[in-house]
Amino acid sequence: MDALLRTLFQSFAKSQSVGRMARRYGLRFGAGRFVAGETIEGAIEAVRVLNATGREATLDHLGEFVSTEAEAELSTRMCLKTLDAIAEAGVKANLSLKLTSLGLGISEQVCLNNLTTILKRARLHDLFVRIDMEDFAQCEKTIALYKRLREQIDNVGIVIQAYLYRSLDDVEALKSLKPNLRLVKGAYKESPTVAYPAKPDVDENFKRLISTHLKNGGYAAIATHDSQIIDYAKQTIQELAIPPDRYEFQMLFGIREDLQLTLVHEGYKVRVYVPFGSDWFGYFMRRLAERPANVWFVLKNLFK
Ligand code: FDA
Repeated sequence: MDALLRTLFQSFAKSQSVGRMARRYGLRFGAGRFVAGETIEGAIEAVRVLNATGREATLDHLGEFVSTEAEAELSTRMCLKTLDAIAEAGVKANLSLKLTSLGLGISEQVCLNNLTTILKRARLHDLFVRIDMEDFAQCEKTIALYKRLREQIDNVGIVIQAYLYRSLDDVEALKSLKPNLRLVKGAYKESPTVAYPAKPDVDENFKRLISTHLKNGGYAAIATHDSQIIDYAKQTIQELAIPPDRYEFQMLFGIREDLQLTLVHEGYKVRVYVPFGSDWFGYFMRRLAERPANVWFVLKNLFK
């Protein structure tokens, strides 16, 4: 049953027509648990609350798969607006973005131009930008673009997904750049030809990525709600005597708040990924696919 629901939610996440239909109803069906509102003001307010409890944030203006240059430009403008809002509010936050929202699917040059504009604005405000990793079809292009950028700019990082067979090689290949990597399990539906289908294999690979990247240098953002992986990371950090300015833990808005606060109380740096905006449907579906038990939470909200 769980596998069936997971596949269903992952297909919905990709469906533009289902997304359009759901968005007509606004942030309903319980999506508000995972998304910090549709406006930038709402998102900044959510960051203030996180900051007040010792957590930092990374803001993501939701949106992916744009098909025209005008749409890519609109997403770029929203990223600039978000950076300006962070700076103006003086909150502890940075920016996360998806390259398909900046036009990666249209042309790599369009995407690079938009991203460069964003990174320059971020530099002006002394802010950091994280490039999220999307489905496997974008992986090679995303890493290549990141490598090109890192030759000139250092306020940018990327994401590595533990479910991909290629990821350990990617971490080794990026070693010389001393990269800032967010390590995650991976949220998209991938073929077993490119990704581990079984969760225990993904978890083992996640651990290998954590220790390899920590040994290689650079900065590690360990992004998971899995207590076992977090315990493994803490132990490895201690064994390798990694200083606190070389790593942080990251979690998603609305998930495992208890664990977020426990880590803060233990003295670890914690950053929460705060998505906002009207294009929330695909993100919401991926959160349901990760934990089909959440479907009961959705059904409860339907009848509220
Ligand atoms: P796992 O799925 O094993 O969950 C461990 C525990 O966490 C569960 O038992 C449950 O208690 C809780 N939990 C997890 N998901 C939940 C949910 N949806 N609802 C309620 N409880 C839940 N992926 C990607 O492909 N590209 C990216 O760029 C990113 N970026 C990113 C940033 C940050 C800050 C995080 C935390 C995650 C991502 N991800 C991502 C998503 C990631 O790949 C993965 O899908 C989720 O983090 C869920 O996996 P966990 O590591 O939490 O483990």
